[in-house]
Amino acid sequence: MVKIIIENLGQKEVTASAPGRNVLQLLHGHGIDWMHACGGKGRCTTCKIIVLEGSENLAPLTIAEMGYRKQGLLNANERLACQARIQGSIRVAVPDDSKLPHLKYSG
Ligand code: FES
Repeated sequence: MVKIIIENLGQKEVTASAPGRNVLQLLHGHGIDWMHACGGKGRCTTCKIIVLEGSENLAPLTIAEMGYRKQGLLNANERLACQARIQGSIRVAVPDDSKLPHLKYSG
């Protein structure tokens, strides 16, 4: 069982019975709009998530994420939703740069 709680999007919760999908696939599969300018190919960083809890429940950084870390474009507490495969429960927040204009965020 995997679970995502989005802290600054009304504590929205997404659950799924099978692990292995990436965070973006899971969010979109549950009808949650999430920025993904490159279409989920690891080429833009607009799908960033801030991981508040449960980073150990995400698969290790992908090569794309490691590259962005080296360039200083992905902080230690951030992952790319299109790259990070989820294996358990996580609590995340949407960074300011990745907020969509038609959604209402808290904080
Ligand atoms: S959607 Fe572009 S890096 Fe994730």
